[in-house]
Amino acid sequence: MRSDANIAGPMTDPVPGPRTESMGEDVSRETPPPMDDTPIGRAAQLAVEALGRAGEGLPRPEQTRVMVVANQKGGVGKTTTTVNLAASLALHGGRVLVIDLDPQGNASTALGIDHHAEVPSIYDVLVESKPLAEVVQPVPDVEGLFCAPATIDLAGAEIELVSLVARESRLQRAIQAYEQPLDYILIDCPPSLGLLTVNALVAGQEVLIPIQCEYYALEGLGQLLRNVDLVRGHLNPTLHVSTILLTMYDGRTRLASQVADEVRTHFGDEVLRTSIPRSVRISEAPSYGQTVLTYDPGSSGALSYLEAAREIALKGVGVNYDPTHAHIGAQSNPSMAEGIQ
Ligand SMILES: Nc1ncnc2c1ncn2[C@@H]1O[C@H](COP(=O)(O)OP(=O)(O)OP(=O)(O)O)[C@@H](O)[C@H]1O
Ligand SMILES: [Mg+2]
Repeated sequence: MRSDANIAGPMTDPVPGPRTESMGEDVSRETPPPMDDTPIGRAAQLAVEALGRAGEGLPRPEQTRVMVVANQKGGVGKTTTTVNLAASLALHGGRVLVIDLDPQGNASTALGIDHHAEVPSIYDVLVESKPLAEVVQPVPDVEGLFCAPATIDLAGAEIELVSLVARESRLQRAIQAYEQPLDYILIDCPPSLGLLTVNALVAGQEVLIPIQCEYYALEGLGQLLRNVDLVRGHLNPTLHVSTILLTMYDGRTRLASQVADEVRTHFGDEVLRTSIPRSVRISEAPSYGQTVLTYDPGSSGALSYLEAAREIALKGVGVNYDPTHAHIGAQSNPSMAEGIQ
């Protein structure tokens, strides 16, 4: 006994194989349950949406945007932001190079790039004047993403650079001589304001400061901002703080929203509307040599970095970012979205 009365057209074609049997007659007439009924279904749906959003393609900058990810405070999310934003921009269709300027080599690790002592690295570029093209490696799994790795040698570079000619502008020269077309270069700085960070500030046009939403978040920032002013005044007139990103935001705590308000009051439009939530998936990804974008594309962490990348790309070409279409970033912490005019 089979009732096809309310099923019309091609949908009535018998579905071959086991699917027909397993679905059963009753089930075939019902609306399938929404995918997000179960945690796994929801994750799958988010992943599909995330990849769809990733593929949507964003305006490319006319010239390569060189962004220096800096904050001399340790553990605020510089490396996490560098690699995940870079992967997001690449997934959005850009060609992106990450320069790992931290002797810890965390960005190289997170991108799955080999960086043991013998690997040609950014140390060779800075100290031995090796062309950047000779150390850049493609990042596995993410098309359009590249990395200039850091090895432990870089730990000595702060001292070795002191006696070299043009010690503050060696990275700038290397980037200028790099001929591959790129939309973005993201430079991951160490947690200090030494010569490595100065090299990054001289090489870049934009400074991106990740700020962790916790007590003392703004402490020490004055020093970074003074250094940016000094470099702009003496060595690189185009340098400016273009982007502030709130990281490890925990919407359940009053402290996080207080810090966010304070940062917005200080910096205004430079602060991205999207903030990055505290997320276990974000912190797990590097141990698999992956960004959160490939490790768990549907997670709130992945979606928020995709959104932040979108905001950065749109701001770069002067297009207003519309947070009403934002996915997870603004929605995950509505109090922040409300606070912005
Ligand atoms: N949004 C997040 N949610 C949860 N954990 C995070 C998040 N962002 C960063 N972390 C974790 O916080 C720690 C510090 O992050 P990260 O290494 O990116 O900071 P950093 O500023 O680069 O540190 P350093 O100054 O040592 O270079 C790491 O263990 C990272 O996995
Ligand atoms: Mg780091």
